Amino acid sequence: MKFRKMLVSDLGSVLTVERSAYSHPWTEGNFRDSLEGNDEVWLLESNDKLLGHGVISVAVGEAHLLNICVANHSQRQGLGRYILHHLLTRSELLGAGIMFLEVRESNSPALALYQSERFEQIGVRKNYYPLGSERENALVMSRPIG
Ligand SMILES: CC(C)(COP(=O)(O)OP(=O)(O)OC[C@H]1O[C@@H](n2cnc3c(N)ncnc32)[C@H](O)[C@@H]1OP(=O)(O)O)[C@@H](O)C(=O)NCCC(=O)NCCS
Repeated sequence: MKFRKMLVSDLGSVLTVERSAYSHPWTEGNFRDSLEGNDEVWLLESNDKLLGHGVISVAVGEAHLLNICVANHSQRQGLGRYILHHLLTRSELLGAGIMFLEVRESNSPALALYQSERFEQIGVRKNYYPLGSERENALVMSRPIG
């Protein structure tokens, strides 16, 4: 397995993985914005097959985890944790001392991953995410890096 940075030409396969895993996937426009901006978009591959991806934004000593996703058929094999470790390492190299993230209140797999990696809840954004015709809270979490 290896990590590499995403290129525009990866959009098709990244969107396939994204849509396999999320109820509310990022759009092509979301990924283009990240690629054109200052975010780092990382892919995890095995034999040229995309297994998952992760996106961070790092500035003024803070990292924000914007997306972490493992292809549906490759989940529960340690890959989400592996991608998260890579993103924490990259964030530290880019000078961040803390990582922030937001997660749907109902996303128990992601919450379990973050809690097991020492993230703590620091706040709630009420009605932050769409959920059908309603809205769902986001939990805001953080952990020190390094
Ligand atoms: C969250 C996600 C990235 C985890 O990836 P993964 O490769 O399946 O996770 P791992 O195999 O590395 O598991 C790491 C830990 O996460 C937790 N976890 C992962 N999936 C879980 C599940 N279905 N139920 C409960 N806990 C789960 C466990 O604590 C697990 O540790 P353990 O295997 O030692 O029990 C993956 O479920 C995913 O892509 N989900 C859709 C996208 C998403 O919701 N991203 C997060 C947005 S905030």
